[in-house]
Amino acid sequence: MRNRRVILAAHVTGEPREDNFAIETVDRAPPGEGEVLVRNAFVSVDPGMRGRLSGETSYAPPVPLGAVVGSASVGRVIASRHAGFAVGEAVAGASGWQELGLSDGRGLRRIPEGPIPLSAHIGVLGVPGLTAYFGLLDIGATKPGETVLVSTAAGAVGSAAGQIARIHGARAVGIAGGEAKRRWLLDDLGFDAAIDRLAEPDIAAAVARECPDGVDVFFDNVGNSLVDRMLPLMRLHGRIVISGQTADYNLTADERTGLKNTRAFITHRLKMQGLVVFDYAADFPRARADLTGWILDGRLKYREDIVEGLEALPGAFVDLFHGRNFGRKLGRL
Ligand SMILES: NC(=O)c1ccc[n+]([C@@H]2O[C@H](COP(=O)([O-])OP(=O)(O)OC[C@H]3O[C@@H](n4cnc5c(N)ncnc54)[C@H](OP(=O)(O)O)[C@@H]3O)[C@@H](O)[C@H]2O)c1
Repeated sequence: MRNRRVILAAHVTGEPREDNFAIETVDRAPPGEGEVLVRNAFVSVDPGMRGRLSGETSYAPPVPLGAVVGSASVGRVIASRHAGFAVGEAVAGASGWQELGLSDGRGLRRIPEGPIPLSAHIGVLGVPGLTAYFGLLDIGATKPGETVLVSTAAGAVGSAAGQIARIHGARAVGIAGGEAKRRWLLDDLGFDAAIDRLAEPDIAAAVARECPDGVDVFFDNVGNSLVDRMLPLMRLHGRIVISGQTADYNLTADERTGLKNTRAFITHRLKMQGLVVFDYAADFPRARADLTGWILDGRLKYREDIVEGLEALPGAFVDLFHGRNFGRKLGRL
């Protein structure tokens, strides 16, 4: 069987470029004993993958040159010699940017047939939705009546975080790039306020305007420069959730902005904590049950930004770092 896939052709330094990637076709042997072969329908395009493409070790091992680019994936079993998976079943896993994923079953989960489309199982019901859920509710410890500020609020993680804040009785304020995203947050997702970061000459002044009493929980996906600007706007006992640092991923340590406004940690008794969503794996079923309930009762909406085919994936990845995605970026294979 032929398998087309996107591999890492050159390690990424600075901004990713399309020529960091290459497409190749290889033979895929049929599954051996205990293995399952999946035809991927959708794969994800994640800013967090950037860290693994530079060749340096972070919390996840780097992608070696010539290896398939990692991602979440969802599709259907087309051949199985695994007792737990039958041909035709829908499954989600992490096979990366390739048409055919071979698995020994570890990390593969069966997707219930139902009203929620396959693609959502690697979006709002996958890592992005779970990151929003645990970041906001566990690390952020968001309480009713609090003000929650979310950056990249029209993205996969941010859009879920703002809505989960509202479901928990908090006031949600989003920052996103562009008027169309700002309107979507207000009109479709029910954010209480939204800021177009591209139209505001002073982001701190804009946040101060929309959060006149300050910010209790800042859920950040952008990085150091934004965190530093937000520190003086935090309320007493505020929490800063470091979910991601998209604006910093392409910068060297020397190029990144340092934090200067750290006195606010003392004066406002702030806490700042990062998360790796996989630490919560044992609680994923509970979180997915909550998220599914909220989707079905209309309180949690999501948007997908889908490119067609393997060829479009490298460009889609480059686009993430220029705000050229609106919701969860996915490739349909
Ligand atoms: N901690 C964890 O376990 C975990 C798990 C999953 C994801 N994450 C992190 O969560 C964050 C969001 O991921 P996602 O998949 O939902 O991506 P996303 O927010 O849907 O896409 C990236 C967005 O980042 C914004 N952006 C890009 N370059 C920027 C810049 N220079 N300055 C400011 N904003 C910029 C753009 O939004 P606007 O133009 O609209 O602002 C862009 O649309 C990422 O940092 C990711 O690494 C963390």
